[in-house]
Amino acid sequence: MQDTHAGRTAIVTGGAQGIGRAIATALAGAGANVVIADLRDSGALTAAAITAAGGECRFVHADISRPAGIDRVVDEALGRYGSIDILCPNAAVFNRSLVVDMDEADWDAVIDVGLKGVFLVVKACLPQMIRQRRGRIVVTGSITGAKVGQTHNAHYGAAKAGIVGFARCTALEVAQHNITINVVEPGNIMTEAMMTVPQLHQSFIDHIPLNRMGAVEEVAAVTSFLASDAASYITGQSIVVDGGQILPENLPLLRGAAS
Ligand SMILES: NC(=O)c1ccc[n+]([C@@H]2O[C@H](COP(=O)([O-])OP(=O)(O)OC[C@H]3O[C@@H](n4cnc5c(N)ncnc54)[C@H](O)[C@@H]3O)[C@@H](O)[C@H]2O)c1
Repeated sequence: MQDTHAGRTAIVTGGAQGIGRAIATALAGAGANVVIADLRDSGALTAAAITAAGGECRFVHADISRPAGIDRVVDEALGRYGSIDILCPNAAVFNRSLVVDMDEADWDAVIDVGLKGVFLVVKACLPQMIRQRRGRIVVTGSITGAKVGQTHNAHYGAAKAGIVGFARCTALEVAQHNITINVVEPGNIMTEAMMTVPQLHQSFIDHIPLNRMGAVEEVAAVTSFLASDAASYITGQSIVVDGGQILPENLPLLRGAAS
């Protein structure tokens, strides 16, 4: 086990499965005490698996779009471990709909978790980070909305683009307290959520220069780096982890050059 995050306490929202589980696993594997916050009871199994592997991890069943849920997560981190050093707002909901068919409830469901939930959990953790004069916030964004567009995901894209603006503005406010905030923007990563749309996988791969979808560990590694002391001079930035997906000026020419 590496000790990059030894003695640090981390909160990972949406850590029961997918990218969040990989982030929790990576941070705990590097010595952090991890609190997973998720609506899914399977978060308990994730925490148990991390603990069985020699890490320190607790699960709090909480809705991170509600201040009451977030307060219980913060209480668990502080009560059990006494600090909050790393915050990874990662929870999101997927709810595909064309704008013309989207009702207010569809919009709110995605924005409440994916954008307002990020604000709420950051706000809840900042007082402790300010007291500590130390903090690393690494938000899971997306290329969708922030870098590229996608049909059926205007609400999701708005949340993910909003996160980047939120991080830039917040970075300026918290820098004086030795707190950094950055965004990791994955492309198409193989997760449980992604497995619900197997019919789309090949079309994704066709547009990815590295010719495969990403693994959750490849996102978690970047999150773990931005949460570490090695990233102490990086703030207000976003980094794309997408196998080169948004890079090609002309994909057919790229494919032609490769063959
Ligand atoms: N999978 C990808 O290809 C991909 C690409 C770009 C960005 N992302 C981002 O990565 C993050 C994780 O995505 P994933 O693919 O692992 O999705 P996922 O659905 O597998 O995991 C999301 C987790 O968030 C939890 N969650 C949802 N609403 C919650 C709430 N109100 N309170 C607490 N927990 C809640 C879910 O229960 C789930 O465990 C998201 O922010 C997503 O937007 C994923």
